[in-house]
Amino acid sequence: MTTKYTPLKDHDTPIKVLFTGYLCTVGIGYLFALIQILFTHGMADGKFGLSVDDIVYSYYGNRSGTVLEQKLNGSMKDNAPELERFQIMEWVREGADIDDYKSEGIDKIIESRCVMCHNKEASIPDFTELSGLLAFTEQDTGATFASLTRISHIHLFGISFIFMFVGLIFSFAETTTTQYKCIAIGMPYAFLVADIMSWWLTKIHPMFAWLVIFAGMGMGVSFMFMWVTSILEMWLFKPVFINGFGSRYLQWRDSPEASVADRVWFYLKVLVQQSKKAAVFAQDQWLTRAWPVVKQWLGKK
Ligand code: HEC
Repeated sequence: MTTKYTPLKDHDTPIKVLFTGYLCTVGIGYLFALIQILFTHGMADGKFGLSVDDIVYSYYGNRSGTVLEQKLNGSMKDNAPELERFQIMEWVREGADIDDYKSEGIDKIIESRCVMCHNKEASIPDFTELSGLLAFTEQDTGATFASLTRISHIHLFGISFIFMFVGLIFSFAETTTTQYKCIAIGMPYAFLVADIMSWWLTKIHPMFAWLVIFAGMGMGVSFMFMWVTSILEMWLFKPVFINGFGSRYLQWRDSPEASVADRVWFYLKVLVQQSKKAAVFAQDQWLTRAWPVVKQWLGKK
């Protein structure tokens, strides 16, 4: 079989250096992206490490209450007696009204119980002014519409470019069949769109947090696959694909019963052919049977 493209291993060294430089830089970028996710979203539920809760808190928010309430039931519990904590929470539940702050005596409680720590000199939030406290009396509804819009378009433009070039380099790979190549190259785009959509969906309902994880992993897997295959073919073709374990992969790939993708591909084609037939049949029925009736009926009116 003659290939219509130059396989990765046969490219000139300068081109290989260019491809490798790009792949390595983007790979490091991916690592930093993961670290960033770990530190921003990963800490959202207060525990280190990424979990479904983190994603729910980041996009949907923690709507079970305000930060102030959670703290008063949590780490700030010992700083005020039961009754006073209850008064503060009542005030928050009733909308944290500025006028009520004084009339209900909340200001006195905060002054006597909290300000010794939460003051201007401290590195923790300052409660000497009401505005400092109000920041913690709002319900946490997760990512804002504005921030979602911003990160959505940045991600769509930016990441599609990354996969443009990673996919282009990988398209010169020869150890992967055309079908699998199509899947590996197309998948990141499908997952990218699914990922962005899932943020918005998670903002509406926390159930979709799973989709965020699933889409993110799908993107990561296809990135890894294209990255590793491209690098191996360019620099380690002989040791891996001729003498090494990669040769067994190639044998397996070329054996008739191996390829799941081939079969999926086959059924997809059959499905398309069948639906074409069905469409022709439907059109035929419409023109010969339904349309005359409709025409007659319209003519009567
Ligand atoms: C002994 C000092 C001390 C007192 C008294 C104290 N706090 Fe705190 N507060 C802290 C520290 C330290 C933190 C940061 C660590 C944490 O979040 O647990 C904090 C954090 C908080 C936070 C979360 C801030 C954030 O950035 O998420 C809130 C809300 C809060 N305190 C409310 C109160 C209220 C209300 C009172 C009065 C009933 C109070 N605190 C009394 C020391 C204190």
